[in-house]
Amino acid sequence: MIGDLLPPEVAWAERFADDVPEALYPSEQQVIAEAVPKRRREFATGRWCARRALHRLGVPLAAILPGDGGAPTWPSGIAGAITHCAGYRAAAVTHLSAYASIGLDAEPDEPLPAGVLDAISLPEERDQLSRPGPAWDRLLFSAKESIYKAWYPLAHRWLDFTEARVELRDDRTFSAKLLVEGPVSGFEGTWLAGTGLLLTAVTVPARS
Ligand SMILES: CC(C)(COP(=O)(O)OP(=O)(O)OC[C@H]1O[C@@H](n2cnc3c(N)ncnc32)[C@H](O)[C@@H]1OP(=O)(O)O)[C@@H](O)C(=O)NCCC(=O)NCCS
Repeated sequence: MIGDLLPPEVAWAERFADDVPEALYPSEQQVIAEAVPKRRREFATGRWCARRALHRLGVPLAAILPGDGGAPTWPSGIAGAITHCAGYRAAAVTHLSAYASIGLDAEPDEPLPAGVLDAISLPEERDQLSRPGPAWDRLLFSAKESIYKAWYPLAHRWLDFTEARVELRDDRTFSAKLLVEGPVSGFEGTWLAGTGLLLTAVTVPARS
């Protein structure tokens, strides 16, 4: 599924269950040792996807430890992102010479719990959510999560949900304008709804 959202220079892998071996490097095992089994499994399947994608890119495999702000520490010269939600795990990677950063997010195609939308959106963003289609409020949330994952490795700091204004389009694209100073002024993304899931992806071209 996620491949439909990504340009050809981006390698990716996805799973719809934790049906792959829990093969972690000792240093990865150490950081996840105290986690509950469900979290260990999603972490391991996320790493499995990441290594499969790196292999497709021809990059030697190594431990992918959580780094600054929780962002995965990718091999030198690589940008990437990992996501997991119920029934889905995925990773995407690319050479920094092609893209400066990537964001990826998966969510169930279901409305946000009551009260969440107001916390994660601007009033003008809410105006675009009452039309036929997927759970637009959850899609907005997912787009913002993808934006954050692409933002963080570039900016190395928090970005609040109200610091980017997102426009979701019917043609399965979206744009975001940053409302704070930063290394980029906005993001372009793509989205997809299917099999009960919403997927969003953001790629930041290397030249920006
Ligand atoms: C970090 C965050 C984006 C993760 O999203 P999520 O929907 O909760 O969870 P997902 O499963 O999709 O993604 C988790 C993965 O994101 C990655 N991640 C975590 N922190 C990250 C960061 N600072 N930068 C980039 N990637 C990060 C990790 O790979 C993590 O998986 P792992 O711990 O197994 O390696 C989210 O928890 C968060 O803190 N959001 C608040 C900030 C935000 O979204 N602002 C909106 C700006 S418009």
